[in-house]
Amino acid sequence: MKKRLESMDIKEKTVIVRFDYNVPIRDGKILDDTKIIDSLDTLKYLLKNDCKIVILSHLGKVKTEEDKIKNSLEPVVEKLKILLNQEVYFSRDILDPILPEHVKTMLPKDILLLENTRFLDVPNKLESNCDIQISSFLASLGEVFVMDAFASSHRAHASTVGIAKFLPSCIGFSVERELAALNKFLMSPERPFTVIMGGAKVEDKLELIEAMLKKCDHLLLAGGLANSFLKALNFDVGSSLATNDSHIIENLKNILLNNREKIMLPLDVIVGSSYDESYTKYKKINEIEPDDMIYDIGVKTLEKYKIAILESNTIFLNGTMGVYEDIKYSNGTKELLRILKENEKIVVVGGGDAVSSVKYFGYKDDFTYLSCGGGATLEYLINGHLVGIDSIMEEKEIEVLDV
Ligand code: 3PG
Repeated sequence: MKKRLESMDIKEKTVIVRFDYNVPIRDGKILDDTKIIDSLDTLKYLLKNDCKIVILSHLGKVKTEEDKIKNSLEPVVEKLKILLNQEVYFSRDILDPILPEHVKTMLPKDILLLENTRFLDVPNKLESNCDIQISSFLASLGEVFVMDAFASSHRAHASTVGIAKFLPSCIGFSVERELAALNKFLMSPERPFTVIMGGAKVEDKLELIEAMLKKCDHLLLAGGLANSFLKALNFDVGSSLATNDSHIIENLKNILLNNREKIMLPLDVIVGSSYDESYTKYKKINEIEPDDMIYDIGVKTLEKYKIAILESNTIFLNGTMGVYEDIKYSNGTKELLRILKENEKIVVVGGGDAVSSVKYFGYKDDFTYLSCGGGATLEYLINGHLVGIDSIMEEKEIEVLDV
């Protein structure tokens, strides 16, 4: 059992807490605040205990200086101020040498959010490579570390795994909630168990897909993942997102060969065009032309997927069926969610995009559990543990005294 926040001595201490504020932001506006809302229980508990609070989080992928412009955590500061109805301070420079002194001058209940930890990845990947000096510097800012970023707990980064090596550490309320729900509904799922996956790059998910196939009864695919599998079956996917790597395509062929019964792929789709925004057309999967880009699944695919869903007792949805925010390509995701809701079985939705789509179509209260973790949830289901949680202190065994 991992050390829980409630069993830590945190009264009036300086607490560093890692959240996952990797939220969708457009033009400075937060489009889905689920992950921020999710962090409030832990924050309120720390405030009630008169802690000084230093928050760490990443946002997006930061590989170049330009990436920093669109991946600042500044919009999150404004959101936290509103939600907590108090001042929240922001440090643009995570490694500012005066930061430790500055933190010392903070008062109980003060909150300081540091800029995106992945800014430290440019140019030397210090955050992502779990640099020991960075980890120790971050740890020097506080007395206790709380890991409450479930969606980042599959990443061995300085702000997740590294920092925990230097401080008494525990899991926060959000991580505790996530683990309890996933253990209950998905670790030994009521079968048949169906996994539905959308997503862009098959390269990122290949191992997870292979491992997931060993656990589930049906795997229904959409998006870039499905396109790559279709390509491996020699379908022309036009200009759609799909892998070009011949080794991966060979791999996909083998996966398909060994899992004929389990893997389901789109039969029909809605396409747009790579050069004409107004063009959109329904097509069977063997009618795709070179400029076509697959943006949604079609009605025949929905009918096929519905059969698998109706015979399942547990369903895990990770991803969307297409570009659901665009009315032209929203039907696949919307209809799939409606089918899942009407089925009234255990449905766990995992990952930022999938949870956002559930909220977008008004199904927020209709499913068994909405998990903030995408990759983290998949890894937990497959491996049964997560590196960012493994690194947290264990609860001490209660000593049984001989009398
Ligand atoms: C997520 O949204 O799944 C997490 O924030 C992890 O993001 P990452 O894949 O960029 O590490």
